[in-house]
Amino acid sequence: DSAPVVDRLARPLRDLRLSVIEACNFRCGYCMPADRIPEDYGLDAAGRLSFEAIETLARAAARLGATKLRITGGEPLLRRGLPELVARLARIEGIEDLAMTTNGALLARHAGPLRAAGLRRITVSLDALDPALFRQLSGGRGDVADVLAGIAAAEAAGFGPLKINCVVQRGINEAEVEGLVAHFRGSGHVLRFIEYMDVGTCNDWRREGVVSSAELRDRIHARWPLRALDANYRGEVARRHAFLDGAGEIGFVSSVSAPFCGDCHRARVSADGHLYTCLFSSRGVDLRPALAQGEAAAAARLAQVWSQRADRYSELRGSTQVPRRHVEMFLVGG
Ligand code: GTP
Ligand code: 5AD
Ligand code: SF4
Ligand code: SF4
Repeated sequence: DSAPVVDRLARPLRDLRLSVIEACNFRCGYCMPADRIPEDYGLDAAGRLSFEAIETLARAAARLGATKLRITGGEPLLRRGLPELVARLARIEGIEDLAMTTNGALLARHAGPLRAAGLRRITVSLDALDPALFRQLSGGRGDVADVLAGIAAAEAAGFGPLKINCVVQRGINEAEVEGLVAHFRGSGHVLRFIEYMDVGTCNDWRREGVVSSAELRDRIHARWPLRALDANYRGEVARRHAFLDGAGEIGFVSSVSAPFCGDCHRARVSADGHLYTCLFSSRGVDLRPALAQGEAAAAARLAQVWSQRADRYSELRGSTQVPRRHVEMFLVGG
C-alpha cells in the first residue's frame, strides 16, 4: 500500500470530490447562466469516466489516505445508474464518509435507492424559499416545492440531518435569510450560508455582491441568539454556531472574508477525469492515461501531482500572483 501523501504546504489529501456529470437541470446565474451555457450543454456519455474508472480513482485516493468522498456535478442525479456507482464506492476500504451535493430537484425519486446503495449523507443547495425568486435564481427551471419534497424524501429514506447550503448575494436573495433560518431551525437539518465567491468565468463577480458571514451572523443573532461551536473535525469548511434556545445549529462558509486554505485537504476531479487541486485552478491534470493502467498507476499519478501542490487561492485573492481564469464551478461541483 502507498503511504499518505502531503503537498508542498504539508496538507494531506483527505477529501476527494468527484463530479459525475457536467450537465445540470438548473442555470444558476453564478454558475451556469442560461445566456452563456447552451440548453443541451454536456459531454456525450463516452466523454465521462466510466463507473469502473471512477472506482479505480477512488481506490487510488483511499490508498493515499483519503477518507472522504463527495459526489458532485453539475447535477449528480442526472447521471444514469448513480446507485450502482454509490454501491461500488461504498465498499471501498478506508472511505469512512460518502456524501453527495445536489440541487434537490430530482431527489424525491432518488433518495431511497441511494440510501439503499450506501450513500451516507446528502447536502442540498437552496438559495431561496420564495417560489418566484427560487425559479428566477435557477434560471427559470426549478420549483422550490420539488426541492422541499426531495428534502422530506431524504429524511424519510433514513438520511439523518441534511446540510442545506445557501449562497447569499447582496440585493438578490439577502431577504431570504431569516425565512430560511425560521424554516430549518428545529428541523435537525443544518443550514449553512456561503459567501458568494469569484469561481468560474461566468458570474461577473464583484466584491460588493458578497454578504459577509460576520454580517449574517449578527443579523441572525439579533433575532435568534447564537453561540460559536468547535469544529467537528480539522479543516471543516463551515464555522458552526448553535442556537442558544436549543433549536439546533447553523454554519457559515467564509472563503472570501476568512479563507481556510491552510487546512484544505480537497482534491476535485471533473466528470472527464481531470484533477483540480484547487477550486480556482486554471487547468486540470488529465488522469485518464493513468486510470487506464489501473489503481497503482492512478495512485502514483495522484501522489505526484498532489506532492507538487501549493494552491491557496482564497488567501491570495486579488494579488497579482494568481491567474484570473478559473475552472468552471459546474465542472468541479463546488
Ligand atoms: P461537510 O463534509 O458536510 O463538512 O461538507 P463541506 O462543507 O466540506 O462541503 P460542501 O460541498 O457542502 O461545501 C460547502 C460550500 O463551501 C461549497 O459549495 C463551496 O461553495 C464551498 N467550499 C467547499 N470547499 C471549498 C474549498 O476548498 N475552497 C473554497 N474556496 N470553497 C469551498
Ligand atoms: N459562490 C459560492 N458558492 C457557489 N456555488 C456555486 N457557485 C458558487 C459561487 N459563485 C455553490 C452552489 C452549491 C455548490 C455546489 O456550490 O450553490 O451549493
Ligand atoms: Fe447547477 Fe449547482 Fe451550478 Fe446551480 S450551482 S447551475 S444547481 S451545478
Ligand atoms: Fe482549497 Fe483552493 Fe479553496 Fe483554498 S481556495 S480552500 S486551496 S480549494
